[in-house]
Order: sequence, then C-alpha cells, then structure tokens
Amino acid sequence: MASKTQRPPGSEAMNGLGKGLTNYGDTDFSLFLRKAFIKGAGYTDDALNRPVIGIVNTGSAYNPCHGNAPQLIEAVKRGVLMAGGLPMDFPTISIHESFSHPTSMYLRNLMSMDTEEMVRAQPMDGVVLIGGCDKTVPAQLMGAASAGVPAIQLVTGSMLTGSHRGVRVGACTDCRRYWGDYRASQIDDQEISDVNNQLVASVGTCSVMGTASTMACLTEALGMMVFGGATPPAVTADRARVAEQTGATAVQMARTGLTPDRIMTEKAFENALRVLLAIGGSTNGIIHLTAIAGRLGFKVDLARVDAFSRQTPVLIDLKPSGQHYMEDFHKAGGMPTLLRELRPLLHLDALTVSGRSLGDELDGKHVSFPQQVIRPLSAPLYPQGGIAVLQGNLAPDFAIIKQSAAHPDLMEHEGRAVVFESAEDMARRLDSDDLDVQAEDVLVLKNIGPTGAPGMPEAGYIPIPKKLARQGVKDMVRISDGRMSGTAAGTIVLHIAPEAAIGGPLAVVRTGDRIKLSVRERRLQVMLSDDEIQRRKAELDIVRPTAERGYQKLYLDSVTQAGEGVDFDFLMPQARNGTIPEKSDIKP
Ligand code: FES
Repeated sequence: MASKTQRPPGSEAMNGLGKGLTNYGDTDFSLFLRKAFIKGAGYTDDALNRPVIGIVNTGSAYNPCHGNAPQLIEAVKRGVLMAGGLPMDFPTISIHESFSHPTSMYLRNLMSMDTEEMVRAQPMDGVVLIGGCDKTVPAQLMGAASAGVPAIQLVTGSMLTGSHRGVRVGACTDCRRYWGDYRASQIDDQEISDVNNQLVASVGTCSVMGTASTMACLTEALGMMVFGGATPPAVTADRARVAEQTGATAVQMARTGLTPDRIMTEKAFENALRVLLAIGGSTNGIIHLTAIAGRLGFKVDLARVDAFSRQTPVLIDLKPSGQHYMEDFHKAGGMPTLLRELRPLLHLDALTVSGRSLGDELDGKHVSFPQQVIRPLSAPLYPQGGIAVLQGNLAPDFAIIKQSAAHPDLMEHEGRAVVFESAEDMARRLDSDDLDVQAEDVLVLKNIGPTGAPGMPEAGYIPIPKKLARQGVKDMVRISDGRMSGTAAGTIVLHIAPEAAIGGPLAVVRTGDRIKLSVRERRLQVMLSDDEIQRRKAELDIVRPTAERGYQKLYLDSVTQAGEGVDFDFLMPQARNGTIPEKSDIKP
C-alpha cells in the first residue's frame, strides 16, 4: 500500500506516513494498520499523503519559559499547512532551569535521547524543534543531529522586562544583583519580595544574554533557524510570524531532504563560535556547541577557540557584559545586524535552513538605522571575545573565564586559597562569621564537575561570603570545576578539567595554598611543585562515582568531561570528521 501513495513532484526525499513502520513482519499490513488508527483522529487520505512535519511540543506547566508553546504550535501548523504539509505535534521531555533536580544539565542528555528516538521512531519527513530554556535547545540540536531527519529550530523567545520602583529589571542578571544586595543587608525583606514579582514579566526565556539567548543566537549562526529568528520576544507578533515561517520552511526542507549534517558543518560551527564570542555569550555555550559538534564527529579545540577569541570583539551591549536586554537587541535589528557587522569573520558560504547561504541571507533587504545595542567592529564593547580559555597546572586540559563580565582589577591576581570541598560544604560554611576569608583570597569550590555533583551545577557563581558582602565586597576570584549561569557576572573561572571528582589537580588544593590567575597569559596555577601535586594526589582515594540503578547510573558511568561537551560517550559517533576551528581559519 505504501507504493500506491500519491506524492507531489520533487518529494523523493519523503516517505511520510510510511516511514519507520512498526514491525509486524508484513509492511503493507503495518501501513494499513497505522492509517486505520490515524484515521480515528479524523484525517483524510489527502491529508495523510502530504509531507509529514513533526512539531516537538515542550510546553509544560513546569516550564514558564515555554509558556507560549500553544500559540507557537498553532502558528507553525499554519505555516506547514500553507506550504502543503501535514503538521503532527508530539511531546518530549521539557526542562526548566529552576524546576530540575539536581540540575538541568543532568537531564540535557536524557532530553536529547528522547528527541532523537521520538524523531526517528515516529513517521515524519521533517521536524520543527520548539525549545527555549537553557538546556532544551542544545538537547534538541544534539538529538536532531543524531536522528538525521530534516530539522529546524524554533525558540520560544525572550521574556519582557519588568519595572521595580522605577528601575527596569529582568531575569536573571538582576535576580542575582538584588539577591546580592539582600545578602549584604542593603535591601530589606519587603523590597526583595516586591522585586520578586517584577523580575520575570512574561512567559519566555531570560531577558539577558544568558544561556537561552546565547543558544538562540548560536542556532541562527549555525543556520538551523530562519534568518532573524533568534531575537523576537516570546509574546510578540514577530515571534508568531517566525513560527509560521518556520513551519513553511520545514516543508521545503522535507521536500529537498535538507538534513542537519548538511547545515551544521565545520564552517557553520566556526560561525557559531565567532558569534558566541561576539555576543559575550554564556560560558555554557562552549559546552553545548562542543556536544552538538561531537554528535556530528567534530572535536572543538579550545586552544584554537581562544585564538578566535583574541580576534573577535564583543559587539553586543547586553547584560551581563553590558547594559541592555534581549528586547533591545531585537529592536536594534537582532542577529541580522550583528551578522552583518561580523561579516569579515564569517564563512558566508555556509548553508542555512532556507537552502540559501548565510551570505545570500545577509545580502537580502536590510535597512540600517542608528541604535545603541549592536556596536560596529570598529568600536566594540570589549576588545576581545567574551570567553578566554586558560591552562596551567590547576587546569591541565583547560578552564574558561567570561572575561567580558569579569572585574578588570582581578584579571591578574594572586591570592590565598579558601577551599570548599563540595557545594554542601560551601553552603554550610560560606556565611559563617567564623570563616577565615579576606577580599583578596581566591574562593575554591571542588566536586561540582560533570560527575562530582553530579550534573555540573551552576554553583560556580560562588556567592561573596556574607561577612565580606556586608563590607561592600562585590567581586572576588572564584574557581571551580562547575558551571555558572549565563546571566551571572564576576571574576569566575569555570569548567576546570579534569574535574576534582576524577582526580584532577583541583582535588589537591588546600586552604592556604597560593593560586595565580593571569587572564593576559591565559594561565591558572596553584603555586605547588609537580612533586607536591603528585604526592598529595597519591594520598587521595579517588574512585569515579557511580550509582546502583536507573538514569543516574547511566549518567555517571557514561558522562564525559567538559571538553567533550558533557555528552554521554556512547552517543558520540566513532568516526571523527575533523577539529574545529580549523587552523587555517585562525587569522594571524
Ligand atoms: Fe528558562 Fe532562564 S530559566 S531561560
């Protein structure tokens, strides 16, 4: 019966409802049965013979960042129908940062597996991935890269900003600022309660250049989203129009068989890395890009990323590196304006979901106008890229720092280590008046890496100890093997690899040791001899953590280090396609 299906011309890449038939040992019967069931939902043969476009529905009462999913699905369906396809929405796991225990990162790979398997298991010629909150977009792109079905990303869009006592506020850079003031007793219970009502003024993703906004911009730079699709806020007509356009584009991609591996090439990843650096993007962006690239067989070389960083200035004036919010970025022209500024640094021949190259998209209609948010290459916000890559005896593989959001006076710093063995240890002692700590010290937090916590929590943003906060201390050098939210700022070294829990040198640091950070030299050192580090290591009894059962066992037994994207080892292909960035693309 599959052979009798009428298909429109040019649809050779599609197999519609006949794809991936359930195995009963009789394929014609399998299709007959499938059609009988779907007809129970009222479909006609005419509808069922069209290209099938799956729409991943990640709407959830636990995920207000995806609170506009119903409206977006309606708009995507409109686009699919207008282009002659059949839209079929289906659920997958949804992850919100504040509703995921122990961490959203712990669940990212599970969501990627869910996405991959459901895209592969259900019949669809193309798929629209609706994500937004931090881990959802990387999870979906990882899953789509592995599934190999034509896929296009739609993000839910950023939330609106609120107003607190005449001050504009937005999640979540301002959440941290107000909480820091509250910890320092600079604002009272009433004010912290009042601002809590204003920080998230609508559904949508965080309103600054946090991880969600970063991933939206990187996805557009990768070519996996309609041009201009990253920045429209969640509750705007622009966002709904992007959704409609996404649905129509998905049908076109299904017809031509435009799969993720043809779009997410080395050149596309290099474009995304340039954009990550130019937007002062979240440090999480490095991990997620590494994981997505890893699914397609590419290794991200962080030393080369640092060379990119030295040539790619921050152009976007958004919190936490600058002062504006995502809705301002959109009103200033959004990603098309940024990409035009970055043009000399980009691969313009990289393919996008439209079937056109990035250069073709940039050559399209464009009106430039005076605005304050997107700087020209000639007058950047910060002279280098937002992220610097460090190495040294404390980080033999690497560590990173968001230099554009660090304090200039602390970028070259040596201080005494004040060590916390775990997040629990830190929670117990950090605010004690007995804690022996000075503003010049270096706060060290161990065992919050991929396996340590587990789930690599965003606890790398170590709060300033209360006794120092009350004295007006706003920033200190803080180092860990964990992550921090893209919305956070400070002189904070993250992702130290290898992590302490598997025996990285961070494990041997003790309170009183001297630690030296030099962002200029890209160095992170503990002032101990190699012999002393080895002697202390030998005293430790390091056993890789595991669990008895379930997803936790799968996670702990399979998770990789930050340099491999914290993906599961068995999800990455055996074959390697190359290293990103390519050496030849690093300009002298
Ligand atoms: Fe969802 Fe910030 S919590 S994007």
